[in-house]
Amino acid sequence: MTALNDPNHDLTAPWWRDAVVYQVYVRSFAATGTGAGHVDGLGDLPGITSKLPYLRDLGVDAVWLTPFYTSPQHDHGYDVADYRDVEPRFGTLSDADALASTAHDLGLKLIVDLVPNHTSEEHEWFRAALAAAPGSPERARYLFREGRGPDGAEPPNNWQSVFGGPAWTRVEDDGRPGQWYLHLFDDTQPDLDWRNPEVGDMFESVLRFWLDRGVDGFRVDVAHGLHKEASLRDQEVGDGATPSSESQESAGGGSMVERTLRDEPMWDQPEVHDVYRRWRRVLADYPGDRMMVAEAWTQTSASMADFVRPDEMSQAFNFSWLLAPWSAGAFRDVVSGTLDALAPVGASPTWVLSNHDVVRHTTRYGGGPVGLARARAATLAMLALPGSSYLYQGEELGLEQVDVPAELRQDPAWLRLQGRPGGVGRDGCRVPMPWAGDHPPYGFGSGSGQPWLPQPLDWASLTVAAQEGHDGSTLEFYRAVLAARRDLLHGTSVQLLDAGEDLLAFTRDGLSVVLNAGPASVELPEGDVVIASGPLTDGRLPADTAVWLA
Ligand code: GLC
Repeated sequence: MTALNDPNHDLTAPWWRDAVVYQVYVRSFAATGTGAGHVDGLGDLPGITSKLPYLRDLGVDAVWLTPFYTSPQHDHGYDVADYRDVEPRFGTLSDADALASTAHDLGLKLIVDLVPNHTSEEHEWFRAALAAAPGSPERARYLFREGRGPDGAEPPNNWQSVFGGPAWTRVEDDGRPGQWYLHLFDDTQPDLDWRNPEVGDMFESVLRFWLDRGVDGFRVDVAHGLHKEASLRDQEVGDGATPSSESQESAGGGSMVERTLRDEPMWDQPEVHDVYRRWRRVLADYPGDRMMVAEAWTQTSASMADFVRPDEMSQAFNFSWLLAPWSAGAFRDVVSGTLDALAPVGASPTWVLSNHDVVRHTTRYGGGPVGLARARAATLAMLALPGSSYLYQGEELGLEQVDVPAELRQDPAWLRLQGRPGGVGRDGCRVPMPWAGDHPPYGFGSGSGQPWLPQPLDWASLTVAAQEGHDGSTLEFYRAVLAARRDLLHGTSVQLLDAGEDLLAFTRDGLSVVLNAGPASVELPEGDVVIASGPLTDGRLPADTAVWLA
């Protein structure tokens, strides 16, 4: 049915085209407790470095680190105060250098996060903007505007923050209520004005700063957001609807599956592509296939494909599987829709089931044994697809979303959205990794210090130490799948098969891959079992199970 254009493996293809990338959420991966600025219970860069051999043994190709730059941590690092330095709580620049060189020694590539849509309110530019007058060059780096209504007491337009509430905050000018600034996220994250050339120049120098230090690529935060429609006009909303800057929290945004288009003057403006063309030229100045991957929650698959045209981004996250329900039909649509959308621009696909912004997929698929069986099946199918896959820390342990008590939640989205449906925030997928031991902090950190978010009391059987070497554990399953993928899967061609309503079935490189999303077991197709996501009995493929057959 659907095939990628080139059936032959291209040995000269850049490393990232079929890489498995492991996302490290810096606060929550591992802590050594060393370093002047260290805070008990918080992950740090030396902690990550100490666990890189674990990631090499897991079998991934690259590590993506969430932002570790100087930051007041209102959005846990996605509020950057200094793009060229390391948050003291996480370590120092030389810790970052040590991490990069250890990764490279182990054969791992390193991707860092770039946050260009907004700075922290503590960035020197924003401090200068607050201290300067309306109309000044300092204010012109951000989106300051006069308010509407009597005395400018109403926000300049009707846009809403992704985290809830108005996307505008008013400042004081000369001791009196003054201008408003735009923040599509938290009010501590003022949006930059990408129509101001100073902003583009600053980010080119930030890119070069990290490229010079040897990073292999960038994950670009909110890549569809940098330019807003120049007029900053109101968002048109249907009768009775409220305006919103809906994004990753909603099931609608970014899907490859087409839907009714909303009016979005704050997202996905054509000018943003010039930024990525410029960055592509910067990357090309450096040896070794440096890359960038867009976090772009666009409304259509066609506009997603625009981000990965040959002179722009290397990849874009494809959130469509992550957004799909547990359904073979939905998975089939995701695979064919993705390949069809990317074929015209020749980009390789990406796949992802979880990240630090969404409910973990074990839980999305129902939780408990069923959720875990489905999560493993979806992973096995995903890792057989051509292109690159992104894994989120802890999914290799089968971790579930944690119900963090309300009084301990820290996500700014929770703080702005609480009380609204679905507004619990994202803390539940960010609980620190359990490494070893019977009780919290499960080897996270150096001693008894409790992690910044509490770990469940029943994680003892899920720790790395508890799963390592145990046949059938989720950790050993991931290791086996990643090893088999390296050995067996190199081609870019995939053939979707019509195997009935309940099955996702495809072939790639002579392997048959079948996922049973139906309620009952089915007969196993012909072939020798290479790997299965769960036990197979009597030559049958149980419900919620996937298999590779040779
Ligand atoms: C991205 C990040 C998310 C962050 C937001 C604002 O969506 O993944 O964690 O809150 O951008 O930077």
